[in-house]
Amino acid sequence: MPGSAETKKNIINHIITAFQNFEDFLWKNILKPLFFSLDPEKVHHLVVGILKHSNRFLKIRSYFYSFDSSEKKKLETNVFGITFPNPVGLAAGFDKNAEVFKQMTSLGFGFVEIGTVTPVSQNGNPKKRLFRLVEDSAIINRLGFNNLGVESVVNRLKRNKKIIIGGNIGKNKITPNDNAKKDYYDCFIKLYPHVHYFAVNVSSPNTPKLRDLQDTDELKKILIPIINENIQRESKPILLKISPDLTNESIEQIVEMCQEIKIDGIITSNTTISRNNLASNEILKKEVGGLSGSPLNKRSNEIIRLINKKSSGKLPIIGVGGIMKPEDAIEKLNAGAVLVQIYTGFIYNGPSFVYKINREILKASD
Ligand code: FNR
Repeated sequence: MPGSAETKKNIINHIITAFQNFEDFLWKNILKPLFFSLDPEKVHHLVVGILKHSNRFLKIRSYFYSFDSSEKKKLETNVFGITFPNPVGLAAGFDKNAEVFKQMTSLGFGFVEIGTVTPVSQNGNPKKRLFRLVEDSAIINRLGFNNLGVESVVNRLKRNKKIIIGGNIGKNKITPNDNAKKDYYDCFIKLYPHVHYFAVNVSSPNTPKLRDLQDTDELKKILIPIINENIQRESKPILLKISPDLTNESIEQIVEMCQEIKIDGIITSNTTISRNNLASNEILKKEVGGLSGSPLNKRSNEIIRLINKKSSGKLPIIGVGGIMKPEDAIEKLNAGAVLVQIYTGFIYNGPSFVYKINREILKASD
């Protein structure tokens, strides 16, 4: 019957749109209000627990959020010799222990950065240590690298075959800065067979004195042993994750150093200790820790432009910080980022956010 294939396609498209609208409704009116009424850290563990048991459901769900083959081809991004299925990644800190990376790619992420992982498991700072600043579309966290330790994470990654994983590595709280290089080196060696790239994290504000390691002489002490080891092997990209609170001058020095010692790229940025122009109440604003989400967007974009200019576009950048709507991701890509990552935007926008960003990227590329 003429037109029947067209009719069938239209019906399918209607069903897909109805499903997406239903999920949006469910998120906005039931799930988000429920989650946001509970303690943020408890919700995080609850969500991770649910995700762990939702593999099959998420595979079926992904049918309603798919791309055709020409769209998939357009989203594919080749950087550092890796083909990313799309340029939108999950930022470090959500899947610290590599428990739900498979599920997160079912939700549309093109890659997942696990960690921060430290050599030995540690509990992090005392609770309560995670706060929502709803009026600012932001989060403050002072978790302090709570994680199960590198061995446990390696065991979970062993089964992974096809998902692109970044290994975000750090040092234990009890390790003095003088010995930090050993912690980074140990994590590098153990994670090496199981990750596609490394993110060296010296920029969390929640481990005392960690950010002092961003001094270029200190950085070299950590990075050179890893780079030397990397050269002996089939080299994997090593990226440096930096703080938005560095001065422009320090960032330029870091860019020079990265080019000199052949670091593959920069991830900018981690959370900020600044509290400028916040609308939230004084009690929330005064919580110690790293601020993420909307207030970070402008500074993160400035740094992307700065690095791009200083390196003449030669140092690949993963842009992260304050992507709260799909257009924010486009702005980061236009500023010079090759890939982007999200954490807080996912918490505020829910499960369809990554799909919406990738749709926007396709629209912008037309
Ligand atoms: C983080 N972030 C983070 N970064 C990192 O390198 N290692 C980590 O362990 C964590 N942990 C962490 C926990 C929580 C609760 C949040 C909100 C963030 C920082 C994160 O990866 C990202 O750089 C910033 O949050 C900025 O991006 P968004 O959140 O504005 O999209």
